[in-house]
Amino acid sequence: MNKSVLINNKINKFDKKIEVSSDKSISIRCVLMASQAIGCSKIYNLLESEDVISAINAIKSLGIKVIKKKKYYEILGKGLNNFSTKNNKVIKANNSGTLSRLILGMLVRFEKKIIITGDRSLKKRDFQRVILPLSNFGAKIISKNKKLPITIKGTRFVRPIEFFEKKGSAQVKSSIMLAALNTPGITKIKSIKSRDHTEKLFKYLNIPINIKSNKKFDEIKVRGLSPYNSFNYTIPGDISSSAFFIVLTLLSKNSKIVIKNVNINKTRTGIIQILNKMNAGIKVKNKKIYKGEEIGDIIVKSRENLKSINCPKYFNSSAIDEFLLIFLVSAKSKGISHFKGISELRHKESDRLKIASNLLRMIGIKIYEKKDSLKIYGNPNLELNKNIRISNFMKDHRVFMLSCIAALTLGGRWKIDDFESIKTSFPNFLFILKKLGAKINYEKKN
Ligand code: S3P
Repeated sequence: MNKSVLINNKINKFDKKIEVSSDKSISIRCVLMASQAIGCSKIYNLLESEDVISAINAIKSLGIKVIKKKKYYEILGKGLNNFSTKNNKVIKANNSGTLSRLILGMLVRFEKKIIITGDRSLKKRDFQRVILPLSNFGAKIISKNKKLPITIKGTRFVRPIEFFEKKGSAQVKSSIMLAALNTPGITKIKSIKSRDHTEKLFKYLNIPINIKSNKKFDEIKVRGLSPYNSFNYTIPGDISSSAFFIVLTLLSKNSKIVIKNVNINKTRTGIIQILNKMNAGIKVKNKKIYKGEEIGDIIVKSRENLKSINCPKYFNSSAIDEFLLIFLVSAKSKGISHFKGISELRHKESDRLKIASNLLRMIGIKIYEKKDSLKIYGNPNLELNKNIRISNFMKDHRVFMLSCIAALTLGGRWKIDDFESIKTSFPNFLFILKKLGAKINYEKKN
């Protein structure tokens, strides 16, 4: 069943405080790390989205007990490499790139054959990026075309590796770090900077890790086979989910929003830095540190005089999931915006560069799309008064949510397919929009 939403009106002005869903990256990491800790971990505020539920089901199928309590999830970890399951067990990662890539790393020393598979979108994505380093650890990895389904059979003779991670991918880096955890000796990773939640969790759990950073790279050393104890963790709000409300507020008239208790780790706040260079005036208050992660409240007001940006490449990784929204802001800004080195957007839940280009063209914006760059000719007076249909986007949750924000800020009559895609990362997205006053109708079609 394909359920669509219909949006025929811009949102009226609002002035509200909200909280968004918990951080997806940290939720998945906590579930996976708790499965190999010694003893019972309690994870509060865990994001209950499909990607995270898939992570819970994955560790359950590896013999780990998980109990849902009223306020937290209890995960009974068995220590490193102590999974138990039958040969040829199938783990369904569904839509989650993070789960599928990270769990492969956790299995390099596990000597049973495990098959990882995913949904239509995940099966199209590249896994060579993890197959290569994980094979170097000694694990046997079989896949037809470097994509899912993948069969992995770990080895007790696993050996540490040295690897240069050049894509700026936190999933690749984290997959190697989780493999390193199960490997004797010291694994060395040189990596282009990317989100560092795994590093922060390792440090908090006293896992031996050493990081040397310069402007471009991190040099990470992990000493493996160091057992760690169970832990308690309260997951903060997700900046990637907040981003939709940041942009909704910026592009609406006379509105203000405070988004409380959001993870504002510097490796994730590219959207704030980029939009502020475009004159957005976003502020962050009540900053505090929680288990190595920075958390704060984000304050945004509507803005009329946004200007274009020639976006420096060094922002790319820290805004990787927010570019769709940044493109929308560019469409409403004065001048020509230019984004380079963004081909990774083609390897997400959908080809986001192509989909963004199509959407921008549909709303009457001139663009130049190349293999790994995009030029957007902004129009601050952009207003729509036509029918727009958004379909065939691989059920990519972020494309769906972007389309809702475009509809609520630009006008026109929008029909946007596959609203169930929000279950991937942000199940209460539409609920919060309605609380802010958005008028959204549903259409069901078999
Ligand atoms: C993630 C890393 C990023 C991001 C994804 C979540 C993570 O992917 O796009 O949504 O939790 O490590 P890449 O590692 O492919 O850049």
